[in-house]
Parts: sequence; structure tokens; C-alpha cells
Amino acid sequence: MSCAASLSVEHLTKQFGGVVALNDVTFEVKPGEIHGLIGPNGAGKTTLFNLITGIYRPTEGDLKLNGQSLVGKESHEAANMGIARTFQNIRLFGELSVYQNLITACQKHLSYSLLDGFLRTAKYRQQEREIAELTERTLKQIGLWDLREQMAGNLPYGQQRRVEIARALVTDPQLLLLDEPAAGMNEEETGKLSEFIRSIQEQYPVTILIIDHHMDVIMSICDRITVFNFGSLLAEGTPEEIQTNEAVIEAYLGSE
Ligand SMILES: Nc1ncnc2c1ncn2[C@@H]1O[C@H](COP(=O)(O)OP(=O)(O)O)[C@@H](O)[C@H]1O
Ligand SMILES: [Mg+2]
Repeated sequence: MSCAASLSVEHLTKQFGGVVALNDVTFEVKPGEIHGLIGPNGAGKTTLFNLITGIYRPTEGDLKLNGQSLVGKESHEAANMGIARTFQNIRLFGELSVYQNLITACQKHLSYSLLDGFLRTAKYRQQEREIAELTERTLKQIGLWDLREQMAGNLPYGQQRRVEIARALVTDPQLLLLDEPAAGMNEEETGKLSEFIRSIQEQYPVTILIIDHHMDVIMSICDRITVFNFGSLLAEGTPEEIQTNEAVIEAYLGSE
């Protein structure tokens, strides 16, 4: 099993043509913490996730996972280094069961060749068994086992978000990136999601970086929070410090 990772963001800048999505941003995410990333729409939050996961390359600056640079890594390399994410818009196989959605997310663990698969070699059968065990263990650990036969697309929104997070967890991540997991949820659902994310932190050795606009979720689960505004770092601190920070209230919290 992996260890929770540290993430260092060092003088990170990302430009899209004339748009400066991130401007010389520097901050640290410590191993094992739940770290919040907040700020108005267009502040550069999702862009940071896309840089961490190798979808974009930085214009300037560096990103380090456990001290090792992520710059120049492709998405699959970032995944192999232990980075998993969920997306602002849910990405599930709606026509597949919850169980199948997790099985298909385990593929990175596979090392058998196509020929092994055709011949159903011992190696192939053992890896299939390991994936089935990992899927079962994960579903039970996070309370989705009873829903395993359900078609993912038929589940309520909040449950679909859980399945999406579970798909990230079976890749055994050291760093889990959650992009607006509470988007579109009502108060009851956000309360359950907060408990769910906290239970993940307790059960898995993983660092969590979470973007969300629901301050009930962010303030109740985060150890530390970083605030972006127009691509720049506006503030950093504990939930208490952020809630009383005048600049943050003016730029973001006051408008909520
Ligand atoms: N692929 C892209 N091409 C051009 N501009 C982009 C691209 N991705 C993001 N941007 C711009 O970068 C800025 C930050 O976007 P984003 O990171 O999605 O913000 P947030 O997630 O904080 O709402 C916005 O002005 C957005 O339009
Ligand atoms: Mg976004």
C-alpha cells in the first residue's frame, strides 16, 4: 500500500494565449491532510488539477510530488506516480454496474499481456482475482457494496459521486484530487459527502486536495485552505483563519 504524498506548487504560471490562468502560485500540501482549494469561478482551480495530472504543461514554475517533478509527465505517468482525480462533471460508465465501474478503473494494475489473456495463463487468472478482491474490499470499506449490482447511471446524484471517488481509490492513489464533488448537491447530500470524504482520509493513506464552492463541506473537513483569485494566491490558512480573512470575504465569501 502506498503512502500519503506531499505536493509542492512552486512559482507556477499557466497562460492560454493572452489569458493568465495561474500567475506565479506557490504553496504546499502536506502528506495526509485534506487541503481545500477555493475561489471564484475562473480563478484557476481546475487548471491547477489539469497541470498536476499532465493534461497541461506549465508555462513556468514547477510541481513536485514527494519532491519529484511532475512537469513533462503524461497523464498515465502521473497516474502511475499515484495521482487520481475526479472531474467537475461526473465521468462514469452509466450503463455499467457499480462493480464493473470499479473493475474497469483497476486496469492500471494489470501487467499481463494480451496473449496471457487469450491463453488464460496463471498470471492472468491471479491478477483477475486480485482485482476482484480489491474491488470488493473497496466497495465494502466505503459502504457501496450493497449497490454493486446497480447500474451507475440509475443512482441518485450523490451516490454517483461516491462511485466516482471509489473509482479513483482503487488505483491506490497517494494524492486524490476532487473537483467540485458537492456541485449540485442539497444540504443533506453535502453533509453525507463530508462524512464520506473524512472516512476516506481515516481509512486510506492518502492526501486529498478538494475544490468546492460549498463552504459547509470545505470548512468542516479541511485541515488547511488555499484561496485563488484571478489566477493568484489570495490567502492560505486554517478554516478559521480563512473565514475571518477580510480579503477572502471581499473577493469570494461575501458573495456566497
Ligand atoms: N484550455 C483552455 N484554453 C483557454 N483558456 C482556458 C483553458 N482552460 C482554462 N482556461 C481559462 O483559464 C481561467 C481559469 O479557468 P479554470 O481553471 O477552469 O477556473 P476555475 O476552475 O477556478 O473556475 C479561465 O479564464 C478560463 O477561461
Ligand atoms: Mg473549475
